[in-house]
Amino acid sequence: MRTRYLRLGINIDHVATIRNARGGKHPDPVRAALTAAASGADGITAHLREDRRHMTDQDIFRLTREIELPLNLEMAATEEMLEIALRHQPHAACIVPEKRQERTTEGGLAVANAEERFEPFVRKLRDSGIKVSLFIEPDIDQINAAVDLGAAVVELHTGAYCEATGEMQETMLQRIVSAAEHAEKVGIECHAGHGLTFDNVTAVAAIPTITELNIGHFLIGEAIFGGIESAIKHMRSLMDQACVSLGGQPSV
Ligand code: PXP
Repeated sequence: MRTRYLRLGINIDHVATIRNARGGKHPDPVRAALTAAASGADGITAHLREDRRHMTDQDIFRLTREIELPLNLEMAATEEMLEIALRHQPHAACIVPEKRQERTTEGGLAVANAEERFEPFVRKLRDSGIKVSLFIEPDIDQINAAVDLGAAVVELHTGAYCEATGEMQETMLQRIVSAAEHAEKVGIECHAGHGLTFDNVTAVAAIPTITELNIGHFLIGEAIFGGIESAIKHMRSLMDQACVSLGGQPSV
């Protein structure tokens, strides 16, 4: 029987969004990260956007020093972000597309046929010991390009699946299933995230070749009603149930 532990990364960007609505220091994203760690998170994700609309440089600086969980820094492929990542040395860097006008990351990176543009970023991050992840659509050409680029991880964008309903949701899910199978076949670690909630996480968590989910907005929203600990523990238990139903092992 296959043993499986599905990691849960918590994206704390929107703790900073709430803080920035008023300025000042409250609520503190580092405190949220420490609470997430105590609640069963396996990693912390933070996106330093070019416009600094949520996380700030100081937040990233503090996260690299004050938390023990691995930090996954989401970043655009720009010289500024590369310099910041190389300086702060997070455990992992996830390269994402970024548009100023978007409310959130709207799609995956188009790396296929754009390898020359991304190669220096992947190489420099990897050479400095940072685990490089590329946030892409669940698409075989994109996965193959990520492998060619030497990325350690692909994170599959689950947004289209999360937004779809009925038959279309099943179609979108199958795209993720096929992409995750392909990732295993070509030997690249496979993560997934964006838009996941209590209602849609089970089918994604049950995909056996996905090793990590990154979840933010929904859990920070839920935390308003019941606290971060309760939100994370419930998500963790849904993920564990999905893994067990496939012969995996629950977290302890
Ligand atoms: N993964 C990536 C690469 C993202 O950009 C985001 C959103 O910042 C997430 C996961 C988490 O998405 P959500 O906040 O919708 O859970």
